[in-house]
Amino acid sequence: MAELTLRNLTKIYNPGTPAAVEQLSLEIRDGEFIALLGPSGCGKSTTLRMVAGLETVTSGEILIGKKTVNQTHPKDRGVGLAFENYALYPPLRVRDNLAFNLKAHGVSGREVEKRVAEIAKYLHIGDLLDLKPAALSSGQKQRVNMARAMIRRPAVLLLDEPLSHLDARLRVQMRTEIKRLHAEQRFTTIIVTHDQLEAMALANRIAVLHDGRLQQFDTPLEVFNHPANEFVAGFLGEPPMNIFEVTMDAGSRLVVPGTDFTLPLNDKLQRLFGSRAGAKFGVRPWGVKVSSTQSGGSVPGTVSVVENLGDETHVGVRYGEILLMASIPVTDRFKPGSKVQLTFNQDDLNLFDATTGDRL
Ligand SMILES: Nc1ncnc2c1ncn2[C@@H]1O[C@H](COP(=O)(O)OP(=O)(O)OP(=O)(O)O)[C@@H](O)[C@H]1O
Ligand SMILES: [Mg+2]
Repeated sequence: MAELTLRNLTKIYNPGTPAAVEQLSLEIRDGEFIALLGPSGCGKSTTLRMVAGLETVTSGEILIGKKTVNQTHPKDRGVGLAFENYALYPPLRVRDNLAFNLKAHGVSGREVEKRVAEIAKYLHIGDLLDLKPAALSSGQKQRVNMARAMIRRPAVLLLDEPLSHLDARLRVQMRTEIKRLHAEQRFTTIIVTHDQLEAMALANRIAVLHDGRLQQFDTPLEVFNHPANEFVAGFLGEPPMNIFEVTMDAGSRLVVPGTDFTLPLNDKLQRLFGSRAGAKFGVRPWGVKVSSTQSGGSVPGTVSVVENLGDETHVGVRYGEILLMASIPVTDRFKPGSKVQLTFNQDDLNLFDATTGDRL
């Protein structure tokens, strides 16, 4: 087991093209579980492949423990990999695919058997041990891949979308299994995913990437509740955070110009807004309360859409071009056309710079 440090890690595949990963610095503690989260093409797999030694580094440094491993052969880095396209050996049974690397590293026959049985139980692949890879479904292959990565008890475990081929139920079940395995074995782990729920559920800390650049690296709750910028705010949460442009009127109220959206701000938010001409306002659907009665500081509106989802209801209220979504209890019933009053908990409000998108 070991800590993993990335220092200004950069990857440019072709000179003259934008960096796939740019100046990425992360300090991952021994035994920590990190999620790399971001949209397709943001550089997640490239980062893992560099750590594994499967991709050259353009500049920057990778340390496992205290040792720089930039020049270390992949086999000698103490890294276990489960990548989507990391093929199993077709002629070998699952059992032998799992045992292969252990035997190559001189682990004794009895110990190999013990570890294969143990990992097969953990990952629910006991029934597959005597099959060849061709006979496995993609979800089964993914679990065998993960078993193969873990069986060597690596210092660092790298998982690239390890659950992407599983059906929804098995995915949740495996998520729980991975979390339990990590609690017991404490491999330093990086999981790559573009599924924010997976990242939130599994990781001690989440690194959010966009266009190869780190946006925020913090605990799931901090990333969710205090997003560093508009990108992170919009990437996490379903339905997404409502984010729209506002100005401030002479009475220190937020205004959506040309609509009847006017919201008094508390002192702290007024100070953050400062003297700028405009900003972006962000509020999660759960931070909006919908009521039929007026109260101090409430914002009037008219319901334009209602989605009954069974466990919660989404209500959309239109202000000009903006459809502000609220997530409310199913017991609150509104209809399209209902006149409502919206109230906002000021602690749930976010302000972002109109140009840079940075949190104010
Ligand atoms: N071998 C390669 N040669 C050239 N460009 C590449 C190569 N591999 C990846 N890229 C580019 O680098 C960028 C980052 O790709 P990467 O595969 O790391 O993204 P990702 O975050 O893993 O995306 P996804 O969620 O789709 O797997 C993309 O713009 C991609 O086109
Ligand atoms: Mg990828």
